[in-house]
Amino acid sequence: MNLLTDSISTPYGTLPVNAPASVRKPVSLPRLQEMHARGEKITMLTAYDATFAAVADAAGVECILVGDSLGMVCQGLSSTVGVTLETMQYHVESVARGLRRVQATTWLVGDLPFGSYHESKEQALRSATILMQAGAHMVKLEGGGWTAEIVHFLVERGIPVCAHLGLTPQTVHSLGGYRVQGKTDAQAATIKRHAHELQEAGSALLVLEMVPAALSAEITSELSSCPTIGIGAGNGTAGQVLVLHDMLGLNLGKPPRFVRNFMAETPDTIGHHSIKQAMQAYVLAVKNGSFPDNAQHAW
Ligand code: KIV
Repeated sequence: MNLLTDSISTPYGTLPVNAPASVRKPVSLPRLQEMHARGEKITMLTAYDATFAAVADAAGVECILVGDSLGMVCQGLSSTVGVTLETMQYHVESVARGLRRVQATTWLVGDLPFGSYHESKEQALRSATILMQAGAHMVKLEGGGWTAEIVHFLVERGIPVCAHLGLTPQTVHSLGGYRVQGKTDAQAATIKRHAHELQEAGSALLVLEMVPAALSAEITSELSSCPTIGIGAGNGTAGQVLVLHDMLGLNLGKPPRFVRNFMAETPDTIGHHSIKQAMQAYVLAVKNGSFPDNAQHAW
């Protein structure tokens, strides 16, 4: 039975209730570690609402990130800087509800927005608690150096953390735009040092965004307990993440170089395109190493 199509009709796309228990095992931190240890790529996609999250789960995506990219794709902001903790809480709750309803197995990551962890580790704990109580299994925060102490504080208190280095969109104004990071030897050395510090502090995952493929592959091979998840970081990372709207071809401007439009590639026999098939194609391409292609999608 297909939980998303074969059940009794439901109004306004309502997800089915009383879905049978999933035959798949829930994704957990040890499972992500095991996947990494045996060389299986980890797949992550962003989702911001109940329905897309349930479809991503059904497509076999292991991790869903309720990213603060929702500021751009849902709220029409020009950057993620304006996203508030209340907004993140609302979307994490929506996604978590959708996943619960279909007895999903996906690991749910909630993004701590700009200003919600910058003041102190105590502020970070309060903000992370709100997202965990909204249904996240893990929180994500951006930056290196000053964040290591915060990561340690959260991890000690039982909150799994995903770190994020390279292009950190919350600091786009300091970085001077959405540019590749770590191109010079000095920048690369800093990113590497921060990655090691974050692993040492207890980060369980590390997003590497828009860094040269060679650098991210090197970092990935050096970090034993913190799998890397790349976006615009080449195919040498432990896993990949894309923004949902980008991989469905819904970027209304010029998509970044690292994006592949999986929706355009997956028509069925009568030429229809399905979001679930596009997500399945993404999962397959990440797993078999055909996405990303360093020549096309990386630096
Ligand atoms: O907010 C987001 O969606 C992200 C991903 C691009 C990694 O941080």
